[in-house]
Amino acid sequence: MVLLPLCLTPLLRLWLIHSGSFGAPPRAIRDKQRAYQDECEARPDLFIRYTYPKLLDESRAAMAKLLNAPIETIVYVPNATMGVNTVLRNIPWHDDGRDEILYFNTIYGACGKTIECVAEINRYAVQPREIHVTYPLSDADVVKIFKETIRASRAARKFPRVAIFDTVSSLPGLRMPFDQLTKICKEEGILSLVDGAHGVGHIPLDLSAIDPDFLVSNAHKWLFVPRGCAVLYVPVRNQGLIRSSLPTSHGFQPKTSGGGTPSSLPPAVNSEFVNNFEFVGTIDNTNYLVVPEAIKWREEVCGGEKAIMEYNSNLAREGGKAVAKYLGTKILDNDEHTLTDCNLVNVLLPLEVSESAIPGTSTVKSADGQWWARLSGQVYLDITDFEWVAEKLKGICERAGKQGFLKNEK
Ligand SMILES: *[C@@H]1O[C@H](CO)[C@@H](O)[C@H](O)[C@H]1NC(C)=O
Repeated sequence: MVLLPLCLTPLLRLWLIHSGSFGAPPRAIRDKQRAYQDECEARPDLFIRYTYPKLLDESRAAMAKLLNAPIETIVYVPNATMGVNTVLRNIPWHDDGRDEILYFNTIYGACGKTIECVAEINRYAVQPREIHVTYPLSDADVVKIFKETIRASRAARKFPRVAIFDTVSSLPGLRMPFDQLTKICKEEGILSLVDGAHGVGHIPLDLSAIDPDFLVSNAHKWLFVPRGCAVLYVPVRNQGLIRSSLPTSHGFQPKTSGGGTPSSLPPAVNSEFVNNFEFVGTIDNTNYLVVPEAIKWREEVCGGEKAIMEYNSNLAREGGKAVAKYLGTKILDNDEHTLTDCNLVNVLLPLEVSESAIPGTSTVKSADGQWWARLSGQVYLDITDFEWVAEKLKGICERAGKQGFLKNEK
């Protein structure tokens, strides 16, 4: 299947590495957002109070359909970290000090910090427990280690209250058995919090089938929605736990006083949960409104979600293998190839570095001192882009070997 490289810019080559980081929307979707921005500036009051909520509901409906979830479970936040914060800062922790949040050592940095912060501001009523993994591992191994950690938590007379895990982890970039982990959480009575930073538009997600307790997924990385936009899914059964958006806004309904301070906004038409996340006031969230446009563009121009996902994951895996072959190294995968069942691939670099990580790069140093580059498959790329990056990576590694980076060599 051939996808035309449609939205090329001079930055193309960099995206090979960075489409998994910040995303890059096609021009048609960006233009749609700009049209909304113009409409807002022409009559801000009308737009913010009346037009925006209506368009937001249409956008939520399109997202709900894509994820096979009821519309009342879908709201937007700026990014996955914000979604994780919203959940962890709302959960009322038990005051016996036994609650634990289970997390993998591959957790996204800011989410790891969030857990530490939540523990601290709750005076350690809740505490983190690490699930330690070293890849490559089979899905069965990941599941086994997860179960062992739950047992260890209980053996220490703790209460594993929430488990957070990725759909596709960031560093290293690989697919996790998140559906199986969600199932175990359900069996064990643990709240599952799925970090789908790489989720919608990247891998198939049927939320009614997976049925997590909470899931957040960035739409700016892979769905071509201008950044930052993430969908926060909270099934109705858990909405009572999420009392407020971050920050608390006009939608909040205090339990004690009848209705709280008066609001100058039009009367709410949606549920308390949805209403909490609706009003953004002075923030420009017109990007939230172009989700339907992004879905339509992907369907009409790229042949739809399935075609895009197949193309991207094949390209990542085959491109990654080609780079590894050129470098004389390997990609990170397990025997079942489930780790690479996504649009990211990690290629081992022919490099031995003893210093700590170089800031600002998508490279990971694993426990055994190896360095890996994370590459992304995306519809505007093909195998020749991976051949290009292979050569560049080789040059960079050779320079690094000669400490060329210190001398600012070309
Ligand atoms: C997520 O959004 C928040 C709020 O806009 C921002 O402070 C934070 O830096 C963002 N994080 C990432 C990883 O983009």
